[in-house]
Amino acid sequence: QRPLKIAVIAGDGIGKEVMPYGVRCLQAAAKVFNIQLEFEEFDFASCDYYEQHGDMMPEDWKAKLSDKDAIYFGAVGMPDQVPDHVSLWGSLLKFRREFDQYINLRPARLMPGVKCPLAGRKPGDIDFWIVRENTEGEYSSIGGMIFQGTERETVIQETVMTRTGVDRVLKYAFELAQSRPKKHLTSATKSNGISITMPYWDTRVENMAKKYEDVRVDKYHIDILTAHFVQRPQIFDVIVGSNLFGDILSDLGPACTGTIGIAPSANINPTGDFPSLFEPVHGSAPDIAGKGIANPVGMIWAGQMLLEHFGHREAAAGVLSAIEAVLSRSDSAVVTADMGGKGTTNSFGEAIEQEILNLQK
Ligand code: NAD
Ligand code: IPM
Ligand code: MN
Repeated sequence: QRPLKIAVIAGDGIGKEVMPYGVRCLQAAAKVFNIQLEFEEFDFASCDYYEQHGDMMPEDWKAKLSDKDAIYFGAVGMPDQVPDHVSLWGSLLKFRREFDQYINLRPARLMPGVKCPLAGRKPGDIDFWIVRENTEGEYSSIGGMIFQGTERETVIQETVMTRTGVDRVLKYAFELAQSRPKKHLTSATKSNGISITMPYWDTRVENMAKKYEDVRVDKYHIDILTAHFVQRPQIFDVIVGSNLFGDILSDLGPACTGTIGIAPSANINPTGDFPSLFEPVHGSAPDIAGKGIANPVGMIWAGQMLLEHFGHREAAAGVLSAIEAVLSRSDSAVVTADMGGKGTTNSFGEAIEQEILNLQK
């Protein structure tokens, strides 16, 4: 088998701190499970790069990354240095759109040893996937300002839903639901208030449902859906939502299961025409950057999703079990402050790396 080519882009803030442990854990898995991984690091897509070059990425970024199978991505954003919409539209959002990574897959799972902020929940009670549309919807570049500088100043940003764009994310979500024991798909909508795009979304869901008769489908308006996340998270299996709804739900889900510091994310181009991108859900966390106390699990788990995506099932299962083993020990000297511990990125990351190496067959 030819090696998997992985571009490593650490980005900003804690992205740079958690990335080394992500790479070490992938290397440990590669060693134990005999997988060929080839890493290449890039310094662009960071605010430091922007300050030096006046842009987030070099002009030929696409050529530099196109031959990769995957991009392993930390986090971007230093709002005191570069406005967020500039740094993100100049990097991550470009990757998602230009590499047509139209699926953003994010788990919300209550893991052993992680204290759940919701009362009375135990591992197994909360276990669902969020399938987020990742290239269109509310994240659109269509719009602008008129009457600038006057009392009538007006800004408009259009939501864009294409039939192709909606149907392909729905298809993915239905197939994922179909592959799971509960075969249950929930659609996030807001068709009571957003009266053109959201009723259209609902219609496409109803249409797609006809092809998946064994999947039980329901829908909730996004407002009450967020309430159910907190009060009845056990009812969910797979949730599909537009770009913005999926974004919000995928911070809320992990927060309901303990900490966003452990949540991973796969930005998938299912056709394989372009590299897919694997990253933690969290951002660059400027408030804790430089202190060495960032939770590295989101980054490491994103590496696990990478292995799974490329069919390395056994290795992926191994890495997940290593993460679970370290989490379930909930050793306060090892785990980080977001989980109530006194540990560091290093103590946490090394514990998981060691656990993976212990899987030695
Ligand atoms: P954030 O996820 O960076 O941080 C939110 C809060 O969670 C902070 O208090 C932070 O300390 C904490 N936190 C996040 N990750 C953690 C971890 N691994 N361990 C421990 N604590 C953790 O979100 P934000 O504050 O909204 O954004 C900060 C910057 O990151 C902004 O520039 C934003 O645009 C950017 N951002 C980037 C991405 C990305 O690159 N994928 C995602 C989200 C936000
Ligand atoms: C995420 C992030 C990004 C998003 C930001 C940083 C643009 O919040 O990956 O969830 O909104 O998609
Ligand atoms: Mn987000």
